Amino acid sequence: MKPRLIVTRRLPAAVERTLAERFEATFNETDTPLTPAKLSTAFREYDAILPTVSDRLSASVFPDAGIRVKVIANYGVGFSHIDTEAARQHGIVVTNTPDVLTDCTADLAMSLLLSVARRAGEGERQLRAGQWASWAPTHMIGTKVTGKTLGIIGMGRIGKAMARRAHFGFDMEIVFHNRSKVDDAETRALGARQLSTIEDVLREADFVSLHCPGGADNRHLINAQRLSAMKPGAFLINTARGDVVDQQALIEALQAGTIAGAGLDVYENEPEVPAELMAMENVALLPHLGSATEETRVAMGMKAVENLTAFFEGRAVPDRVV
Ligand code: DGY
Repeated sequence: MKPRLIVTRRLPAAVERTLAERFEATFNETDTPLTPAKLSTAFREYDAILPTVSDRLSASVFPDAGIRVKVIANYGVGFSHIDTEAARQHGIVVTNTPDVLTDCTADLAMSLLLSVARRAGEGERQLRAGQWASWAPTHMIGTKVTGKTLGIIGMGRIGKAMARRAHFGFDMEIVFHNRSKVDDAETRALGARQLSTIEDVLREADFVSLHCPGGADNRHLINAQRLSAMKPGAFLINTARGDVVDQQALIEALQAGTIAGAGLDVYENEPEVPAELMAMENVALLPHLGSATEETRVAMGMKAVENLTAFFEGRAVPDRVV
């Protein structure tokens, strides 16, 4: 008998076809996020769950007894929406989908950086509203990107990919903070300097891009104090997780002109985006699109397929995080 699998959101057709061949799969026809009650029931009725970042698998969703689920194959590299300690306690394996979304997430971070520095969103809004009068030497002056300093918080796969784009594409100097020492050929080729504290990075960087995981350890890593440690003309880019930034403190820093602007793809309570952010022209806002390309979303799905297949065939699970 095939293992019973519940897929919490619609996935690319090729991925759903493969899942349907290998598992007794239930798909989410309406693509509406499952309620906590439905997620809880799923733990009792299925052998595996394939969730996404839009599912909050907190400890309270794991039933106390009668759990049938043996593996959670997350669709995404970040898994801070899953209480991994609860999974561990219930003996449930958790997997993610690293590597395949590195380039597209870094591409999007670079797009946000360019967009907010060069006022691209603001310019497009003006043009579409029929308010562009004429070319003028003083019209919508932005900030030059080439040659500036980029500060990276979290020099993992995506942080390095962002650094490559910024350094080789835009001649940027790279400084970074990472909990552990990063000393590899790639980082050396970038001439990237690892600084001891986040504050050291904030002090030097014209642009700060966040690439660390979300979750309890990094909650509000960028708070009011750290925002005020940034250069007055600096920009903050967040394609990591919304909870890494104290969103209210960011709004206040932007309103007060403590920093020049922000480019955001992630928010504290997605899909809610505060009206204050939407009202600001010096903020580029995207709806969590980091990995949203056809190639990457299919590749993420195929990674989840491979993780599930390996698990149920009793093989080593490639992307196991718990
Ligand atoms: C990721 O993979 O972490 C993306 O943000 C989607 O979850």
